[in-house]
Amino acid sequence: MNIKINGENRDLGAIDPQTPLLWALRDELGLVGTKFGCGISQCGACSVLVNNASVKSCSFPVSSVGDAEVTTIEGLAESNGDLNPVQQAWVDLDVAQCGYCQSGQVMAAEALLRTNPNPTDDEIDQAMATNICRCGTYIRIRQAVKTAASHLAASE
Ligand code: FES
Ligand code: FES
Repeated sequence: MNIKINGENRDLGAIDPQTPLLWALRDELGLVGTKFGCGISQCGACSVLVNNASVKSCSFPVSSVGDAEVTTIEGLAESNGDLNPVQQAWVDLDVAQCGYCQSGQVMAAEALLRTNPNPTDDEIDQAMATNICRCGTYIRIRQAVKTAASHLAASE
């Protein structure tokens, strides 16, 4: 099976089509920035983009990717190494505490801003409610989403 990840076609060989995308990413392709939390679609630590939607990769069979483009945390930065606006806002506002949930949080925020580039606080809270942070960084997450949105608006 071949799937398109971070702009490249990657060969997953004879992988079981029911394998969760998370394990294809981590175990087959070495893309370990995507984390395993609950494994039952409840925490969001495993969030990646499938096209522009945030998907919980622990519960998403790799065969369901089809022709879509998967983006992981490793694929967000520019080819010259510059962080994308969401990543940069996360760094600037020092959002992470333990960090375990944060690649999923960044991907969920990226999905939100791709579909709603100027979200209200309520829209941010609603969109990000899919992603749990046991360290309680929610206030900084919301601020970082707003910061990324303003940088995106300024760059247009
Ligand atoms: S590990 Fe996928 S939602 Fe928790
Ligand atoms: S930063 Fe620790 S779980 Fe979110």
